[in-house]
Parts: sequence; structure tokens; C-alpha cells
Amino acid sequence: MPATALKIRIYGDLILRKKAKPVLKVQPRHSEVLSAMAKIMYEGGGIGLAAPQVGLSESMIVVDVGNGLYKLINPIIVKREGFYAIEEGCLSLPGVCLKVKRARKVLVRALDESAKSLEIEAEGLLACCLQHEIDHLKGKLIVDYASFIDKLKIRKKLEELKKRSADESLSKSESKSCKLQL
Ligand code: NI
Repeated sequence: MPATALKIRIYGDLILRKKAKPVLKVQPRHSEVLSAMAKIMYEGGGIGLAAPQVGLSESMIVVDVGNGLYKLINPIIVKREGFYAIEEGCLSLPGVCLKVKRARKVLVRALDESAKSLEIEAEGLLACCLQHEIDHLKGKLIVDYASFIDKLKIRKKLEELKKRSADESLSKSESKSCKLQL
């Protein structure tokens, strides 16, 4: 699939629930995909995006919370500390906004697009965003963290999204209903 053909997959699309495959050998194609993902993330007003969200079941994410763009391959969390929770949205769940309890600090290990290994010590928003994107690689979504009450509140919305995921229409205004799109 050419990188230019990628587009955001909406809740209900089964690829969002699949575990992403690790990248065994970093190739120029991965770099192209990461750039395309960054473009899609910025266009969608997001601060993070994972490859399954654009239909690729491969372990790659992009993140930019305002301090520069990270393009990461095979990211894993090797250390967590403390607790932190913010209202999170997701480009694959337009119109859904949920407070998710996560670690306040994480240490992430990954490869960059030239296959060099790197470590990121992140805190607060960046830490949340990295955890959110790495969740995507495991097929996990913010709705999985919803309380019983939250689940009732978003049930209708999720049904709507599932229907729309089939006809692939995404309203841009709706995707902005949550401040942070990850
Ligand atoms: Ni997301």
C-alpha cells in the first residue's frame, strides 16, 4: 500500500483491535510511512498516531505534544512511575473523550527511522501520549478504560461510530470535540 493511500480507521474497524507486528528490519518504506503518519496526525489536529490507526498492523507510532516530533519503531515501556490522568480523545474515536489513568512517568525504548535505538524519559502529557499510542499497538483503546458509567454515556456514540466505520465518513468538526486527540 503506498504511504499516500493511508487514512484514519474508525472504531469498529477490526485492525484497531489487532496486535501490531514488530518491525524486523527497518527499511526506507518505514520512514515513508512514519512521515505519512505524521502528516495525517497534524492534519487531524492530533498529538499522536499509531500505525494500526491508518490500517497498518506494524509497530510504529508518531507523537508530537508540542516539543518536536517523535517517529518511533517497536516502542516499548520499560519503566513506569506514579499516576496521572487527563481527558483523552482519539483520532479513531471522534466525539469520545475519556479520562484515563496512566503512569505519570515512563521510560520508553524504541528504534528511530534509521534503526538506531533510543530511550525517551517522558512525563505528564508526553508520557500519556506515548502510553496511549503504545496501547494502540496492543489493540487497546481508551474505551477499554471507561468506567461503568462512562460506558453507558458513550454507548450510543460507539454504535454510531461502528456504523460509520463501515461507510468511512469522518466529520472533521466532530473529531475536535475533545481537546487532546491521541
Ligand atoms: Ni488514539
